[in-house]
Amino acid sequence: MFAITNPSPSAINSAAKALLGGALVGIPTETVYGLAADAENEAAVARIYSVKGRPQDHPVIVHIGSANYLTKWAINIPDYALKLAKEYWPGPMTLILERSEIAKDFITGGQDTVGLRVPAHVTTLALLEEFHKLGGNGIAAPSANRFGAVSPTNAEAVQSELGESLDQSRDFIIDGGQSLVGIESTIIDCTGEFPSVLRPGAISEKMIMTTTTTSQKVKVTNHPKIRVSGSLDQHYSPKAKILLSGFASLGDGFIALDALDTPEGAVRLASPNTLEEFARTLYSALREADEQGIERIVIIPPEGDGLAIAIRDRLIRAAR
Ligand code: TXA
Ligand code: MG
Repeated sequence: MFAITNPSPSAINSAAKALLGGALVGIPTETVYGLAADAENEAAVARIYSVKGRPQDHPVIVHIGSANYLTKWAINIPDYALKLAKEYWPGPMTLILERSEIAKDFITGGQDTVGLRVPAHVTTLALLEEFHKLGGNGIAAPSANRFGAVSPTNAEAVQSELGESLDQSRDFIIDGGQSLVGIESTIIDCTGEFPSVLRPGAISEKMIMTTTTTSQKVKVTNHPKIRVSGSLDQHYSPKAKILLSGFASLGDGFIALDALDTPEGAVRLASPNTLEEFARTLYSALREADEQGIERIVIIPPEGDGLAIAIRDRLIRAAR
């Protein structure tokens, strides 16, 4: 794999320059790995789409080094969005805001909004800081998987998803270890009077309500006018068929909280003790099933609110 591990300051500098020169870089984040390009370089962003096999009209998230760069990319930012940024960035939260003129159609999918996030990963924050220092304004990065497939949560998974499609002479992957959250960021539409969750994640509705002191309930909606590729019916899918109820038979994969016993003859793929561990290990367990040639996986979805809602959201899509 053409990956760099624990990059030195000079390697970070080279990576930032490579991005500014049009390279694609697999980057670690606390949620999942991203496939990054300079968000102002149309040709480089076009290459992200072709490497991922992603439809052209889907918007990509722009990653910035701190909330100070919000006003580069967004206008008319509501107060509640500033509060959220202050409370949860760097962290697993993407804010959808009215775009500024530097957020071009090739980033926003032609919409008047832009998605922004400050990721919480030391290496990627250092890369962003260096990138900004060299004059870059933001790094576009969708999850580093082929369209519709499971997001990668470590560098090896990025390599196996996209390695063959990357240009070995200039693109590379930064190995930042296992992603600690393990599922994609919470996406919050901040273009209305109140925040509205478009994709659930580790930043829960309750956390959003507490921070924004909105009395009105923050709704998980599918905004009809906004395209969120994660909201396509089927997404995050491994090759194996996923069943969220029923019994596991001989040779089936099985994923459930540790307290639940493995059915006889099933292959235990993950036994998380907590919701956090469930989210963190889910995608690599799905990959493991495909690697082992397992054809069916029975998954017992966790109950409850918060992160459990986000996990169930991914499971339901993966099962379609
Ligand atoms: O955790 C994450 O968000 C990861 C890491 C790499 O940051 N990124 C990620 O990107 O999941 P992606 O492209 O796989 O999913 C981002 C979602 C897409 O469904 C996209 O449609 C939506 O965000 N999105 C981006 N910009 C948007 C916008 N302006 N309006 C509505 N949805 C937007
Ligand atoms: Mg994705």
